[in-house]
Amino acid sequence: MSEMKHLVTLEGLTVDEMMAILKAADEFARGRQQTFNQKVVANLFFEPSTRTQYSFEMAQKKLGIETITFNERVSSISKGETLYDTVKCFEAFGIDALVIRHPEENYFDQLMGHVSIPIFNAGDGSGQHPTQSLLDLFTIWQEFGYFEGLKIAIVGDVANSRVAHSNIQVMKRLGMKVSLVAPPQFQEAGYKWHDLDEVLTEMDIVMLLRVQHERHQEALSLSQAAYHEQYGLSIERERQMKANAIIMHPAPFNRGVEIADEVVACERSRIFKQMENGVYVRMAIMSRAFER
Ligand code: CP
Repeated sequence: MSEMKHLVTLEGLTVDEMMAILKAADEFARGRQQTFNQKVVANLFFEPSTRTQYSFEMAQKKLGIETITFNERVSSISKGETLYDTVKCFEAFGIDALVIRHPEENYFDQLMGHVSIPIFNAGDGSGQHPTQSLLDLFTIWQEFGYFEGLKIAIVGDVANSRVAHSNIQVMKRLGMKVSLVAPPQFQEAGYKWHDLDEVLTEMDIVMLLRVQHERHQEALSLSQAAYHEQYGLSIERERQMKANAIIMHPAPFNRGVEIADEVVACERSRIFKQMENGVYVRMAIMSRAFER
């Protein structure tokens, strides 16, 4: 971790550093006030986003940080300017940090060591989504108070999911037992794959993933109904879960595909809690970067 307090993957954070972020998020959730009046952060989103972009913006407003929202379509990207030169331009303006979502995996490699302001990775293609992982961990920590030994099933389009990639790494590091479930088309080498109905009843957490049609080279070979039947969290499956088990999804979700409509907001769903927690976690990340 450099002095810049970048957050591009979670690999650069120790467990103690992650726990410090979760504890700060908890303080913000309980009403901690902090202001950084002189700070300006630009949010550069080269892929669509609702939760990440606007929860960063909400977090910035709560911290008294001025926000610049970059619009790729009417920027000089359309004249061929590169990401690197765009970032160097914002750095030259005197911006204090950049939030970047970009379709290229590891886009941040070209920036590390060349920029003097913190970069917060808001998602790099199918690579990593560290702030989503931190808000997922915060939600789990709020619920259970620990990580070691918790059993989670991550179910769905694992191959295309930056959320899965970040979470599998960090959750294993924290001692969680991660079971992966996916149709063959969404599986990756190097992992063991499970049947949802064989693991469901043992799980403390079931995390569904969106079927990311926009990233597929070939159309999904299953119909939506067949996908739901084999891999979806139906109300019948929800009823088989352990008494205190919870349901998570990074969202946006496809109702009736990976998750049944009536499960989205059921008692054990923490999906909207995850969205709320995204604001507190992003406040904690920016506070960490700007605190002296
Ligand atoms: N979970 C998540 O990253 O959502 P958005 O794509 O809406 O930001």
